[in-house]
Amino acid sequence: MDANAVNRLDAHQTNAFRRALLDWYGENRRDLPWRRARDPYAVWISEIMLQQTRVDQVRPYYDRFMVRFPTAEHLGKAPLEDVLKAWEGMGYYARARNLHRAAQRVVGEHGGQIPDDAARISDLPGIGPYTAAAILSIAFGRDCPVVDGNVVRVLSRLFHLTDNPASSAARKRIDGLAGRLLARGRAGDFNQAMMELGATVCTPRQPRCGDCPVSPYCEARKMLPDPSVLPRKRPRKQRPHHHVAAGIIRRKEEVLIVRRPTDGLLGGLWEFPGGVVSKGVEEETFLAEEMKNSLGIDVRVDHAVATLRHAFTHFEMTLQGYSCSYLEGVALHRDGNECRWVRFEDLGRFAFPRAYQRLIEAAAERNEGPRPAGFA
Ligand code: ADE
Repeated sequence: MDANAVNRLDAHQTNAFRRALLDWYGENRRDLPWRRARDPYAVWISEIMLQQTRVDQVRPYYDRFMVRFPTAEHLGKAPLEDVLKAWEGMGYYARARNLHRAAQRVVGEHGGQIPDDAARISDLPGIGPYTAAAILSIAFGRDCPVVDGNVVRVLSRLFHLTDNPASSAARKRIDGLAGRLLARGRAGDFNQAMMELGATVCTPRQPRCGDCPVSPYCEARKMLPDPSVLPRKRPRKQRPHHHVAAGIIRRKEEVLIVRRPTDGLLGGLWEFPGGVVSKGVEEETFLAEEMKNSLGIDVRVDHAVATLRHAFTHFEMTLQGYSCSYLEGVALHRDGNECRWVRFEDLGRFAFPRAYQRLIEAAAERNEGPRPAGFA
């Protein structure tokens, strides 16, 4: 990386850069529902959703969420179950649990108003430096630079930064550049313009440099045949692969569901009982034993329903679903996880991870039960 990157743009160029970016944003900004009003609650919800989910996917979730929970008070008073249901299918469910706890604190400690200073807003669960800066700049007009993945990419190319941005020295430099470039007094628009540029023009692959409002200032464009080689990427680690078997256990019209513990991966969501199958172990045998050991019930494993693959951040999963018949015993989970017998058609009332939703759909398709309503 060039040590003088921060100094390369003089004050005149910096102003011209800001103007070009803001003009472009004024003309090209996407009409997104959370941009229509400067409601701090709306900005907060949208930024949490946008942390790990693309704008197109967020939109319908955001619209439904704001109807269901229009204020921090509505959100804080709702049962966590309802919040998870509204989040179902978006993944990274810790976001929903944190949002719910934070809303309770906003109501209890801040009179229902989202705090407008960095210390108090950063103290809320789920609000890290990125989200704090986004809310403070967009909702309150504070001069805080936002640096998300899109902004890292834009700045790496603009200043031809060749160090891995995951290193703390490179990241410090990027944060410094973002602060120096920030259009003071228009931080909300500036930050959103940078993110928008990264999302729509300065994209990871095949950036549209011909359409870029700030290409005259871009070092990568001047120096590299292909600017998309920046930012330098970390070598991807191979993700481990787990084989999970799960049983849809039938007892007359009902099936058994188990709730995952509140903390941890997919916390608070429901699933069909089962678990990770070790290599070389037969799935049907594993399932029958697992039901006996973890729930204290005897089942007969009847037939396979579907095989589904799902990628999480740190591992991949193949989920093999089986239809099982309940034989005897009272379902009580050995770790105290909540168990419920529910009618197949009512499964849509409960929040399931995406892979299990797909399993339910596959089971309905095989006429194993009426299609439940209520999945996203
Ligand atoms: N990504 C995250 N927040 C965003 C915002 N407010 N505008 C555009 N892209 C975003």
